Parts: sequence; structure tokens; C-alpha cells
Amino acid sequence: MHELPVLDHDAVLAAVTAQEAISYVRDALVKHHNGAWSMPPKVYLDSPPYGDFRAMPARGDGLAIVKWVTSFPGNGPRGLPAVMGIVCVSDATTGAPLMLLDAAAVTMLRTGAVAAVAAQTLARPKAWSVGMIGCGQNGRWVARCLAAAGYGPGYCHDTDPAAAERLAQELGWRVADTRDDALESDIVCCVTPGSEPVVDVGDLHAGVHLNLLGADAAGKAEATLKAIAACSLFCDEWEQASHGGELAGAVRAGRVTQNDVTEVGAVLAGDAAGREHPEEMTLFDSTGLAVQDLAIARAALTAWREDRVEAQRVRL
Ligand SMILES: NC(=O)c1ccc[n+]([C@@H]2O[C@H](COP(=O)([O-])OP(=O)(O)OC[C@H]3O[C@@H](n4cnc5c(N)ncnc54)[C@H](O)[C@@H]3O)[C@@H](O)[C@H]2O)c1
Repeated sequence: MHELPVLDHDAVLAAVTAQEAISYVRDALVKHHNGAWSMPPKVYLDSPPYGDFRAMPARGDGLAIVKWVTSFPGNGPRGLPAVMGIVCVSDATTGAPLMLLDAAAVTMLRTGAVAAVAAQTLARPKAWSVGMIGCGQNGRWVARCLAAAGYGPGYCHDTDPAAAERLAQELGWRVADTRDDALESDIVCCVTPGSEPVVDVGDLHAGVHLNLLGADAAGKAEATLKAIAACSLFCDEWEQASHGGELAGAVRAGRVTQNDVTEVGAVLAGDAAGREHPEEMTLFDSTGLAVQDLAIARAALTAWREDRVEAQRVRL
């Protein structure tokens, strides 16, 4: 077996900038919508009481990937991230493995990137301020990608004040004294563990765009059913969103059906309407798609092939 290149955490982040991630994730959503890239829904493997593993395959542009990744919300006190794992990239023609990458870094880039894409697609044209609720590993990248897309300054809120302070300092944004400061922003991004709602209907204001990213599995939610009912609804992919995302609870309660929700890829491709007026309140449910991971893994593989980043090697 030939030697397999391995990109560690820092190498992935060196290979793909936030701006590139935004552009590649936008393309991936369109290619998925058009059927050029394919992806079955992710598979969850519960590991109670710690969290769950996800297996996330996707294929497109001659590559096939699987991401094997965790969401273990209680890992913080153990000194470990909630989200970690490995992405394996294979040649879709021969099946040969081509590269291994750190899944945490791939996830951070593609999660931040999709928040920026959703804001660019759905927020009011004049929207600029950002409210972050949840400033952990993935929340930081959501803020960084929004900043890379030209949004901000914003407010950072976290139940861990040090996390909010760190992010605010890095981006030159402000710490929100209360959650309300963050909720008043044009674009509100929630990246909490999703164990309790952080947005209620009374928190919404005309024209707000909500990016809800933390609730990416069954039983998690960051908005109340009333808040969801007040918004125009968008998601990354209906199949995943209806089973294991922010909207799943509303779907189970019979309050939301597929006709109420538009996939953002359809808006990007020009096949569906996005926001229709400035006062509308829009909500984007990100469950996290394997095609987003493929977009980042493909860009990182290209960077390595073009000698823009160094890889370690393993012989299988
Ligand atoms: N949609 C996606 O594509 C996607 C991708 C990655 C992670 N996630 C999900 O996002 C969530 C966060 O992941 P992470 O890796 O950033 O975790 P993390 O543990 O690094 O960060 C979570 C942060 O939320 C804060 N927090 C907890 N409860 C809060 C509350 N009520 N109000 C404000 N802040 C609060 C915590 O203090 C922490 O800083 C997880 O549920 C994870 O599964 C979703």
C-alpha cells in the first residue's frame, strides 16, 4: 500500500481559509441540490450517557468521504472537545484511500462557512451586526467566518464568561452582558449544546435572521416551538432536519411540515425564494451535511497536491 497523507488539525486550518471554506461550502450546497454530489442521511450511534458518534458519507467530483465524528457535550471538564474524529477521503473511481484529516478542524470550517452562506443568502441586505450565543469550538468558527464574510462587529454571549471574552477579544467584538444584547443583533447565531432553548418568540425582532447550529441531533433544540412558528423556515437538508435538527421537535408535534421549509441549496440555485421582505424573520436550521465536509476535504487535498500544505504520512 502506498503512503497515505494525514492532515492534522493545524494543517487542515492552514490548507483552507475561512473565505475559501465559504465559497466551497456554497458550491457544495448547490451541487447537492442539483444532484451532482450525493449523500445519504448521517447515521447516529448513541453512546449514553456521553453523547453520540456520527458516520457521514458523501460522494462528488471523483471523491468519496466518510466522517466519523462525535458530539460528546460533557467532554469540556475532561479537557476534551465535544466534536472530534477523522475524515477518510477515497478515490471514487478506484476506491483507493487518498487522505486522512482531523474531523474537528474540517467540522469547524464547514460549520462556520455554512453560517456565513446562510446569512449572505437569507439575512436582510443591510444586515451587519452579529449576536453569538455559544462561543465554544464551533461557535468561534461561526463568528470567524461571519467576520471573514464582512459581518460584525457583534456581541458574544456564553454561560462560560471566559469563552465569550476570548472570542470578543479575538475579533474586536463586545461581550454581551446578557443574552438579550446578542438577541438584538441583525444575525443571531446559536451554537450551544441544545439541551435547553435559548431563543423564545419574545426574543425575536422584525427582520432578524437566526442561524441555529447547535441542535444537530434528536432531542436537541435552541428555539421554542413558538419562536419557530413565527419565522420563515430554511434548513440545510429536509431529511436530516426533520429527524435530528432544530425543526425535528416541531415536525414531531405536527407544527411544521416539509412544505413549510426550504432548503438553502434551492435558494442558492435560484429554484426557490429566500427572504421576501426586510421585516420577515428567517430561521436557518443547520444539521451539518457530509457534502460540506466533502467540500473542505476536497479543498485540503488540492492544497496538499499543490504543495501549499505539508502532510504527515502513514503506511497502511
Ligand atoms: N450544525 C452543525 O453542523 C454542527 C457542527 C458542529 C457542532 N454542532 C453542535 O453544536 C453544539 C456546540 O458544539 P461545540 O463543538 O461548539 O461545543 P463546545 O462545548 O465547544 O461549545 C458550546 C458552548 O456553548 C456554551 N453554552 C452552553 N449552554 C449555553 C447557554 N444556555 N447559553 C449560552 N451558551 C451556552 C458552553 O459554555 C460552550 O462554550 C453541539 O451541540 C454540537 O453537536 C453542530
